[in-house]
Amino acid sequence: MIERKVVLITGGAGYIGSHTTLVLLRAGYKVLVLDNLSNSSYLSLKRVSKMTGTAPSFVHGDVRDRRLLDNLFRLNKVDSVIHFAGLKAVGESVNDPLSYYSNNTAGTVTLCQAMAAAGVCSLIFSSSATVYGNGATVPINEEQMADYPTNPYGRSKRMIEQILFDLARSNDKWSIGVLRYFNPVGAHESGLIGEDPLGVPNNLLPYLAQVALGKMPELPIFGDDYETHDGTGVRDYIHVMDLAEGHLSALTALETRSGVNIWNLGTGKGYSVLEVVQAFEAANGCNVPYRIVGRRPGDIAVCYADPSKAARELGWHAKLDLTTMMRDTWRWQTLNPNGYRD
Ligand code: NAD
Ligand code: UD1
Repeated sequence: MIERKVVLITGGAGYIGSHTTLVLLRAGYKVLVLDNLSNSSYLSLKRVSKMTGTAPSFVHGDVRDRRLLDNLFRLNKVDSVIHFAGLKAVGESVNDPLSYYSNNTAGTVTLCQAMAAAGVCSLIFSSSATVYGNGATVPINEEQMADYPTNPYGRSKRMIEQILFDLARSNDKWSIGVLRYFNPVGAHESGLIGEDPLGVPNNLLPYLAQVALGKMPELPIFGDDYETHDGTGVRDYIHVMDLAEGHLSALTALETRSGVNIWNLGTGKGYSVLEVVQAFEAANGCNVPYRIVGRRPGDIAVCYADPSKAARELGWHAKLDLTTMMRDTWRWQTLNPNGYRD
């Protein structure tokens, strides 16, 4: 009998983590989720279990808890770790930087210490296009580092990347994948799992969907005076299921790679805010009132990936188009108007 590989997914109850848990279970992995549920609900994993007919094991706990991690590795023969757990709100990170350095940076150090002690050396880390900072040239490839990120969230991610480089230099047993996500959006096509932000959403798609639902009167569009074809900001939106598949590809690739491997996960296409609004209205037959307001501090004009390294080395590319992203966002939102809180 072939033994199923065991993957520990930290933050696996969250938005990207729950979709990745689904993809890994379907691919035949055994999944163990560690999550403190600070920004998610256990219901996401219950739904994943229903969708796959297989339940991931769940440990309710914090990635900074070394004793818990040591026990977890002692009781489970873990082959690889996918590390999503962390905080991700840029504005909050400016007001409460220490929480970001604690959960994100210190949390990753504790996790790596426990992995090293247990002899588990295969790690995939959730990084972000935010590490490129301002002024990178589009399409952005993995070699570019324009300047240091402008906020504590981005800095916590860039620091972790540097720590992982040092770790891999110290011992060639490590195989590490650093995945730099562009703008994840959408939801599983069933509408059973999706993004469930607490309070007023920070990001475009969750905000837009709540306006379409009538929970918010209008979408503020942050500036129409950028140097783009219609003046609004351009981003590389990637469907969360494509992103989840990217983790599966990276996991497989790490079996034959060592050191730190950085891969951009994006589509390579940029869409403006106005194009996203139009695509949402066309895909879903609904109206999205909006108002142009001032620029949001820290925003840049254009950001999209050169995803060719991931295509070459992982055999992965994003398949789902903008219309599908819009349709799936809306299905999730209409089926779960209050997210997982019903
Ligand atoms: P999310 O908030 O939905 O998921 C993160 C999960 O980690 C949550 O379930 C939360 O409860 C858990 N968590 C937080 N701190 C923890 C801790 N100390 N111990 C244990 N669990 C903890 O966010 P997401 O959108 O799924 O993002 C996942 C990862 O991807 C994050 O590291 C984020 O920074 C990164 N990322 C996200 C985006 C995005 O736009 N969503 C873009 C780039 C990078
Ligand atoms: C944001 C984060 C970035 C993080 C990324 C993915 C900031 C400054 N940056 O990127 O660090 O890695 O999310 O989580 O928060 N927009 C509006 N109205 C809105 C919301 C957004 O016009 O209500 C515009 C923005 O100005 C931008 C685009 O929509 O042009 C996308 O914004 P958003 O979804 O917040 O993502 P980013 O700013 O790209």
